[in-house]
Amino acid sequence: MMKNSRRVILMLGSLVLACTSTAQDKTINDGVFTQAQVDAGQVVYDASCKTCHDMRFYRDTLKSYDKQPVLWLWETMLGTMPADNPGSLMLEEYTDVIAYILSENGFPTGDTKLDPDNGMDEIHILSP
Ligand code: HEC
Repeated sequence: MMKNSRRVILMLGSLVLACTSTAQDKTINDGVFTQAQVDAGQVVYDASCKTCHDMRFYRDTLKSYDKQPVLWLWETMLGTMPADNPGSLMLEEYTDVIAYILSENGFPTGDTKLDPDNGMDEIHILSP
């Protein structure tokens, strides 16, 4: 009994280690959003974000979030944007807008969807 549970704890420990070591390496340069999200995000962006900011603004924002998790940016947007009606978009729309902004700043699309419930706290922003 004792022996078994100790083995489980050891296994869990190495799982956690494995996760943190890959997590630290993952960035927005690794194809972490899809082309479909970029396309959907452009529609949201044009309708809800374009009036107050230009792409240069988002470039500067990405610079200021250098090495921070994408989830933090997502949460900030969710809580404060659009400034005239914060939180008014669907969660998925905020995610799509981020995909569009990343794409416009030169980061590549991939096969995996960007998903706030799945690892977005472990994907790090890079300065464009
Ligand atoms: C009515 C005008 C308005 C609209 C529409 C708007 N914003 Fe903003 N946004 C602001 C203002 C004002 C600020 C804060 C002052 C600044 O940094 O320019 C801001 C700040 C931000 C920031 C910086 C947050 C930070 O932590 O530095 C981001 C990112 C952002 N907006 C994204 C968006 C997105 C995405 C949309 C569309 C969903 C959007 N904004 C729509 C006015 C607007």
